[in-house]
Formats: sequence, structure tokens, C-alpha cells
Amino acid sequence: MSPEDPQPVKRAAKLLGVLVAVRTGLRAARSRTPAPPPSAPESDIDPSKREVPANPRAELLVAGLVLLAALFAFAFTVVYIVAGGNTQLLGVAMGVALCLLAAACIIAGKFVVPQETHVEERGLLLDEEQTEEAVTMIEQGGEGISRRALLAGAGGVAGAAIVTAAATPLASLGPTMKAFHQTPWTRGVRLVDDQGRPYRAEDIQLGSFYTALPENADPEAFGSGVLVVRLPAHYIDLPAARRSWAPQGILAYSKICPHAGCAISLYRYPTYAPTSQVPAFTCPCHYSTFLPGEGGRLSFGPAGRALPQLPLMIDGQGYLRAAAGFHEDVGPSWWGVHRAQS
Ligand code: FES
Repeated sequence: MSPEDPQPVKRAAKLLGVLVAVRTGLRAARSRTPAPPPSAPESDIDPSKREVPANPRAELLVAGLVLLAALFAFAFTVVYIVAGGNTQLLGVAMGVALCLLAAACIIAGKFVVPQETHVEERGLLLDEEQTEEAVTMIEQGGEGISRRALLAGAGGVAGAAIVTAAATPLASLGPTMKAFHQTPWTRGVRLVDDQGRPYRAEDIQLGSFYTALPENADPEAFGSGVLVVRLPAHYIDLPAARRSWAPQGILAYSKICPHAGCAISLYRYPTYAPTSQVPAFTCPCHYSTFLPGEGGRLSFGPAGRALPQLPLMIDGQGYLRAAAGFHEDVGPSWWGVHRAQS
């Protein structure tokens, strides 16, 4: 090898470069922070020392959803009171409330409640100390929730709202006794047809029956509908106290069958008096038959009582008016409404 040959010099320089790089690498490795000791397996961690990271954003979201659910549940009750018949609105209010609550539960389950499985071997909780220890342990499981009071408050409000909403429809379970005792019929109310046209006495013909409603009242109100007929004098045999209730032989009775509440819609009128039976109303449900000429007396069928009668009078212009309310509560007898009013 001649002193002019450049190859050995180049090789030595390369070797030197590699050595420098290795040394630098070793130094860097030594200067790094030492790695933490391997963490203990989860089952070895004392549950009372666990740290559950709080997730304030998720907690706020859950609280917001729960409060919104409460709002919709309260809206259900308000809609029920203000517009009870609007079932679509009721359904929307309750549906949205439950959906919001479900969303809140899902988010809380995923991001708020600590998701840990911890299995700990221990004996039966036979003494008080162990029991207390376990209770403390369970309570500490929720310490990662930073807005517990807010969530608990929102949950309480939502619970109250939903329980209220669920209980509200109980108000619809059957009519109240007040509804039985109050019908739109009072003294002076005119009898009108389904178009609101008042009946004159002369409109009521023999052999036909008419359905009348109270003027200026809700036609669907309990006890609104009455049956009106005109009978010849020889078919009328009312109790003495009711003699004045049928001016010109016109009589009115509740349209609600006192058996099970069907609408009475059949009328039998004799076509040949010597052989025919007396005029009668018949209920199409179970054929209870009532005699309008005899104060609505039950002549056949399962109804337990007579048809309640509405006393009538004719005003100066010939219009038919109620002389008073029904003589007895209207409605099926199994509702316990048989209460004489006069
Ligand atoms: S409901 Fe009228 S007879 Fe039964």
C-alpha cells in the first residue's frame, strides 16, 4: 500500500463515523426517562384507590338530555289537561321524553359511569365491618362523576315528570260521579235536533221518535241525548208526581240504556191497537224494553231499572223545553248511578 492510496483512509473514516453514531445512540438511550414499572394487574388494584376519570362534557350532555326529557314529560301532562283529546300530541310528548331519557341512559352508561370489571375474592359478608367496607367500596365507584348533584337533580326532576305523566291518564279511568249527577239539562233548556234547530211541539208526530239535544251545549256531554215521542192519552199512565211532565202527550227519556250504556235506537209503535203491544223503546244491545207511556218502566230485558225521564214544558212560542233535569241519574246501573233526584 502506497501513502498516496486513498482507500484505507476512507474506510477508517467510515468506521469512525459508525462508532460515533453508536455512541451517540447509547447516550441518548441512557438519558431517556426510565420506563415505569409494569402496572399491577387490574384485579390487584384496591378498588378504594381507583381513580375514575371524570367526563364533564358527557355529564353535562346527560344532564341536559334528562332535563329535556322532564320538559317533554311535563308537556304530556299539560297537553292532557289543555287538549286531552289530542292523542297525537300526547304520543309525541311521551315518545320524545322516553327517547331523550333512553339517549341519556346510553350516554351515561358509555361515558359517565365507570366501565370497569373488578373481581375480588372474598368471603361472605358476615360481619358489620366487612359490610361497611363493601358499601364504601361501591360508593367510591362513582367518585369519577364530577357533577353528581346535577345529574341526581336532573334525574329526580325527570323521574317526577315521567311518573306524573304516566299517572295522569288515570284521571280518564271512568267518568266521575259528578259527571253522572250533572247533565246539560236544566230547567228552560230548549230541545234541538242534531243541526241545532229547536223542536216545536208540533214537530213531534205520533208513531215516530226523535233524538233531541240540549241547545247551546256540548252534544257529546254525558246524558245529552234524549228520546222524544208523542203518545195518545190512552197510552199514557204516568205516576201521579209526573203528570205535568208530558205536555200534549210529548215525553222525553234518556237515550242511554240503564243496562250497559248502549244508545237506545229502536221504537215500537202499535200499527193496530187492539192486537199490538203498547209503544216501547228497545235497546239493540240486549233488548231491554222500556214503556214511555208508563214513565219508562222496564217491561223486558236485563236492565235493572226504568229509563230516566226528562220533564218537559212548552214555551209561549211552542218550543219544547226541559222543565227540570232528569228525575234520576242517567247511565248504566252497574256504574252505581241509580240515585233518585226527585
Ligand atoms: S245495554 Fe241495553 S239492554 Fe244491555
